[in-house]
Amino acid sequence: AMALPPSLAGLPVHFFPVVGSTNDEARRLAEAGAPAGTVVVADRQTSGRGRRGRTWLSPPGGLYFSVLLRPQLEPRLVALLSLASAVAVTRAVQSAVPGAGARVKWPNDVIAGGRKLAGILAELSADQETVRFAVIGIGINVETPELDPARAGGGLPPIGLRQLGWTQPRAEVLGRVLAALHRLLGGFEPGQLPAAALVAEASSLLAWKGEEVEVRTPFGSWQGRLAGLAGDGALVLERPGGARQSLYAGDVTLREA
Ligand code: BTN
Repeated sequence: AMALPPSLAGLPVHFFPVVGSTNDEARRLAEAGAPAGTVVVADRQTSGRGRRGRTWLSPPGGLYFSVLLRPQLEPRLVALLSLASAVAVTRAVQSAVPGAGARVKWPNDVIAGGRKLAGILAELSADQETVRFAVIGIGINVETPELDPARAGGGLPPIGLRQLGWTQPRAEVLGRVLAALHRLLGGFEPGQLPAAALVAEASSLLAWKGEEVEVRTPFGSWQGRLAGLAGDGALVLERPGGARQSLYAGDVTLREA
């Protein structure tokens, strides 16, 4: 049983000792009509998935969960859901382990001390105009895992909550993340998102602001100074020469001086 904060105590939480992927389980429940706010948690996953087809190594004792959202949003606003999720995780970690120095690594990772603490995989079920539901999958390292070869090359070395000084039960972090997400989105069936406030908060928690970075996208790589976030959540790079460029997807890496 997972203890949730009082405001969320009524959420349907499905706990699995072992599951393929909590995102797949949440999708199945969503297709079967599960309500917004349904949470799927697992102690371990046998086929945990990361972004871009990567594997998310999911040994027992980590924190692996998915939240079902039923947003009533224009599809173009959906990117903000994963940014909001990264902010929620960062806030939860900050409040739980104040010295951790957790930051949002755009668009939806959470890092601490230059190492990867959490990853987010947001998956959407949508046709052209309507978003049917969104599954926000969140993996938080508790113990520092072995480096997954599938994540090497572009991936940061991992760090776990325990190494940051966290000692409480996992359910406590889960509750904090859910509460933060619920508050940021104004519920699990968000209609109008407080986009400006969300982006401002993500901006204030953003890793590597002012640093030289490289952003790899399926369409090519860009280098420049990480200037911040645009109002729609895009990453803004200041290119050599001063031109600014907004990017909507990609993997950011720090360029060593
Ligand atoms: C990434 O960093 O590439 C995203 C990792 C997301 C991992 C979580 S763990 C819970 C949920 N279920 C999955 O299969 N993936 C996400």
